[in-house]
Amino acid sequence: MSASAKSSNPAHATPAELVRRREPVQIGLRQAAQLGKADLLVLGVYADGSLPNAAQPFDAALDGRLRELAKQADLPPKIGETLLLYYASGDTARRVLLLRLGPRKEFDGKAYLKALESAARAVASSSTRSIDIPLLDVVDDDAEHTTAWRVQQASRVLCDGYYKFAAPLFASKGISKDAAAVPQLSLLIEEPITPELEYAARSGRAIAEGMALTKDLGNLPGNVCNPGYLAEAAKALGQEFGFPVEVLEREDMAKLGMESALAVGKASAEPCRFIVMKYFGSEAEQPPIVLIGKGVTFDTGGVSLKPGDDLDMMKYDMCGAASVFGALKMVARLALPLNVVGIVGAVENMPGGRATRPGDVVRSMSGQTIEILNTDAEGRLVLCDALTYAERFQPACVIDIATLTGACVIALGSQTSGLFANDDALAEELLQCGTDTGDRAWRLPLWEEYQEQLKSNFADMSNLGGRPAGAVTAACFLSRFAKGYRWAHLDIAGTASVGGDRKGATGRPVPLLSEFLLKRAEHTAPAPR
Ligand code: BES
Ligand code: MN
Ligand code: ZN
Repeated sequence: MSASAKSSNPAHATPAELVRRREPVQIGLRQAAQLGKADLLVLGVYADGSLPNAAQPFDAALDGRLRELAKQADLPPKIGETLLLYYASGDTARRVLLLRLGPRKEFDGKAYLKALESAARAVASSSTRSIDIPLLDVVDDDAEHTTAWRVQQASRVLCDGYYKFAAPLFASKGISKDAAAVPQLSLLIEEPITPELEYAARSGRAIAEGMALTKDLGNLPGNVCNPGYLAEAAKALGQEFGFPVEVLEREDMAKLGMESALAVGKASAEPCRFIVMKYFGSEAEQPPIVLIGKGVTFDTGGVSLKPGDDLDMMKYDMCGAASVFGALKMVARLALPLNVVGIVGAVENMPGGRATRPGDVVRSMSGQTIEILNTDAEGRLVLCDALTYAERFQPACVIDIATLTGACVIALGSQTSGLFANDDALAEELLQCGTDTGDRAWRLPLWEEYQEQLKSNFADMSNLGGRPAGAVTAACFLSRFAKGYRWAHLDIAGTASVGGDRKGATGRPVPLLSEFLLKRAEHTAPAPR
């Protein structure tokens, strides 16, 4: 073990503790006709005062008094607002959390996800330990929003609502101490519980578990989560689930010719790592899906130093890498019959005496040379060598995920990830996964006309495309290294974290990636039960 393998900061979890962490909540399914005695009943209320179908048995058992209660209560009119009531008579529930849903006819998939998010917040901040949640009805029910979809999304959003950045506490308190107090959530469903629905609940939970790892890694400070920490986390993940993990050190990277990636980490006291996680869950010799994550554990900008405002947010510059960890944990937890390779270029971008200078020229692993005009455009320098490395897997497709450009934040804000692809079918598939999970992306062009902004007098290309269309020229740069396979690039600079007083990682785009992987697994083999 290297010095960085042990968490050198005793206030924080070790990589292995982080990777082994489970969701602090249990979620199950129950047929609505079986009334229970939970501490809390979460009751959706549509604008006309009607209740979800799955809440009818409760209401009937109480002679319609739940509906009366919902009508009389001072539930705020805004959709998503909640009101906690103490319900004295009857013994089916001691507390009722009313949840404002808006008009039944307009309650679509998007509204469903939003309502669940508010419910999740309210439920998780309550101190109740057993919670019944009659599944909400959605208008376009049987088309896209099947019961399985509703169950999976509810399971994911509710589990995710319980996420807390507990990493600093592990070291002193241990991870499993409060296992006894784990809240039990039950989703109540009208129809009989099938294995398909059970699997939907389980997969939703696995996605939330993946998101939690992604958030934990993102939220850890840069002095803890450095390239060595990411490498140890990868090894721990491989150990936990039994898949091989390879960590290339600086010398190995140099031998492969990864001068571009190495140029970024040159001035850091913490040496670069190149991490390769190989989950081979398909028995068939299926070409793997390769996920590549930008793992810049802190981005100062290097010699092209960033201004000081909000510089702390640059600890989130490894969120692409963190989402690869999260997606792989989901895949491994569900033992999906898929082959997935996760690649992370882990580096710290620092200024210093050994740092790369603006104007330096390096040769990438692909052989193409790069004039580094701005050391703050470092993500692409790391990713390009990872894209070249990915060729050896003869992948079915490659998706890179990166907090790549401020320009993408300007273009799409914090609501939407930027999507680029050299393959229309892959782009459509990913966009659909974003829509289905509310973790949306929007496609931007990779047209030839933009490539000329990368011209250099001293190398095959520069790493800087200028201010116009900054997200596009960054993607254009990457496209030059991704010619050998179907490829998509997700720019998550705006979506991976939020600042301000809710500062934290969001876990995005793990829902989108998970949906993609789950769908691919479904199409290659029957879903495991
Ligand atoms: N990590 C940043 C991008 C970023 C900005 C992520 C804001 C999250 C929030 C990236 O390495 C970067 O610095 N990009 C530069 C590129 C420019 C120098 C061409 C940028 O966006 O300004
Ligand atoms: Mn940068
Ligand atoms: Zn960066």
